[in-house]
Amino acid sequence: MNLIKLLTRRMSPPKTAAVLFAATAITGFAQTNAPVSIKIQADKITATMPPTFYGLMTEEINFSYEGGLYGELIRNRTFKADAIQQKLKPDAYDSTKYYPPKYPASAAPKFWNTVGGATLVLDADTPLNDALNVSLKVDAAAASKTSPAGVANGGYWGIPLEPKTAYQVSFFAKAAPGFTGPLTASIEGTNGKVLASAVISGVTGDWRKFEATLKTKSLQPSKDNVFKITTTAPGTIWLQEVSLFPPTYKSRPNGDRKDISQLLADARPKFLRFPGGNYVEGNDFVNRFNWKQMIGPVGQRPGHQSCWGYWSTDGFGLPEFLGWCQDIGMEPVMAVFAGYTLNRDHVTNSAALEPYVQEALEEIEYVTGDASTKWGAQRVKDGYPKPFPLHYVEIGNEDMFDRSGSYEWRFAQFYDAIKAKYPQIKIISTTAVQSRTADVNDEHYYESEEAMEGQSFMYDTRDRAKPTKVFVGEWATRVGSPTPSMAGALGDAAWMCCMERNSDIVLMHCFAPLFVNVSKVSGNNRSMQWESDLIGYDALTSYGSPSYYAQKMFSPHEGDEVLATSAQNLPVRTAPAGRGGGSRQIKSLFYSATRDSASGKITVKIVNSADAPQPVTIDISGVKSVAAKGKATVLKAANRTETNSIKDPRHLVPVTEKVKDLGASFTRTFPPCSITVLELEAR
Ligand code: AHR
Repeated sequence: MNLIKLLTRRMSPPKTAAVLFAATAITGFAQTNAPVSIKIQADKITATMPPTFYGLMTEEINFSYEGGLYGELIRNRTFKADAIQQKLKPDAYDSTKYYPPKYPASAAPKFWNTVGGATLVLDADTPLNDALNVSLKVDAAAASKTSPAGVANGGYWGIPLEPKTAYQVSFFAKAAPGFTGPLTASIEGTNGKVLASAVISGVTGDWRKFEATLKTKSLQPSKDNVFKITTTAPGTIWLQEVSLFPPTYKSRPNGDRKDISQLLADARPKFLRFPGGNYVEGNDFVNRFNWKQMIGPVGQRPGHQSCWGYWSTDGFGLPEFLGWCQDIGMEPVMAVFAGYTLNRDHVTNSAALEPYVQEALEEIEYVTGDASTKWGAQRVKDGYPKPFPLHYVEIGNEDMFDRSGSYEWRFAQFYDAIKAKYPQIKIISTTAVQSRTADVNDEHYYESEEAMEGQSFMYDTRDRAKPTKVFVGEWATRVGSPTPSMAGALGDAAWMCCMERNSDIVLMHCFAPLFVNVSKVSGNNRSMQWESDLIGYDALTSYGSPSYYAQKMFSPHEGDEVLATSAQNLPVRTAPAGRGGGSRQIKSLFYSATRDSASGKITVKIVNSADAPQPVTIDISGVKSVAAKGKATVLKAANRTETNSIKDPRHLVPVTEKVKDLGASFTRTFPPCSITVLELEAR
């Protein structure tokens, strides 16, 4: 785990201050006697909404890909979770080399169990190839017709099964002389009942890939199942890259989970910031995000130790990020490794940085180049014939933690090289720089509800003359675990109003973290490293938090023009003051107004974070007319601690209703703890 940042900044303690405050919050009633009104000047456009305003941020954390979005159901499929890696300082590390790990002697791999009388050993002397330099040796000498022997894998807290569904199993295998086979691949329920199986013959003394389909019949969807490879013939076999895939989103090979992908598609994000956060840095140079080791056939990707404490096979690598973009209709916003890792190692001079700069240029070519370019051709080979649009490249992540000051010159070197070759690409810095003018700077905000609402007018007063624009590349109201409660959604919606109103300077934003596997949220080997994540799931099902629904309400309703707004007599509420205790008055009503220039439709977003209903008069000037009938979509809760969960996934969801009595001036009462999107037909 990223200890440096953990110590430097409050990350994911079991209970953040924000969570504690929420539990004991003195969330007062709206306090105002004067009539509250919001004026919208429809003839005054303050910003053109950037086309890629709402997006997603992603990194391997909380089992986001493996054990999350990535369809793979087998945990530790390459048997490298026990890898013992070399520790190398940047000066000793060659960026073009792969440093193969070693493995503990005579150990069975993590997450694999024996079946029958088999014994399991990690075998570094029988590798599949240089990348997968270990295999699982299964000694099944005791196997017999009445007592099959082999291996079992319980997946990521279960192997999910749906009725009448085809699962694709594949693995590499070889056998010691004398083994006659066959092997049986099966999925069994908790009671040992075989729910799907296939017989696989032809295992010889040479490595070969085997594939089969496991089909279920009618059954109850379940996740407490186990995958097995067994034999009734005595002998010794070796296995590598044992894989099991369910049907994937848009049927993409090596693709993504359908339910989670659908949740994302429904929120209509426009970009994907990848590989976001700490994941691009890595804990040390050997475990940095090394994209060249994350392309090509998955069986030739070595994998690495991800910075949140678990092994990543990198089956979800650079091509898969692009496939994700393609399937959801997002544009990539790509971060490149910038010569600094979470343990605070960094290159010390520009010659040592140059290989990483060249790597970044090649990575851009991989994404954007056509088939005539070296790396564009590799992308085509990896299954993506068309180049991807790439307007933004981010240099590193949170480099304010690099106390050596090296970011200044590291950024400059990347900036100059990328601008020289790709002048159209906008460069994102991760902290302030002096010697170059970054096109955009990435600001991160992880806050309590009160802090988020308290800062939700901050961009209104930002200096417009600054040439560097803002990318809020990570933000979240951190209230609720594993996923945010309604309090989180209220803070988020207030903050999104702020960013929308100020989208002349805030070009893009994305909530973080996006995903959490909620199967085991505490204790050893937990599935969660960071609380308050947007979307939760276990092996079988997934759900959106109230914060997810706030995003889903805002994102498709952005319009393309931001209208001038002002408020009179904004109400306040009493809220906890912060870590020092006490209370303070903070605003309890937040708003933004946008218009779709093609249809003239005006969308007004109103957040009432008080525990009391709030009447608000909305006056719209600069339009010929506003129809009396419109639409309101409302997300509300009886109190701010209400939430969704894996067991109660749709406890809080937005409800859309037809409304009447609208017009150029109307008064509407907004429910307590609510987020409302009003759609007005204006001309
Ligand atoms: O989103 C969780 C982490 O928070 C990210 O990895 C990092 O960028 C930030 O510190």
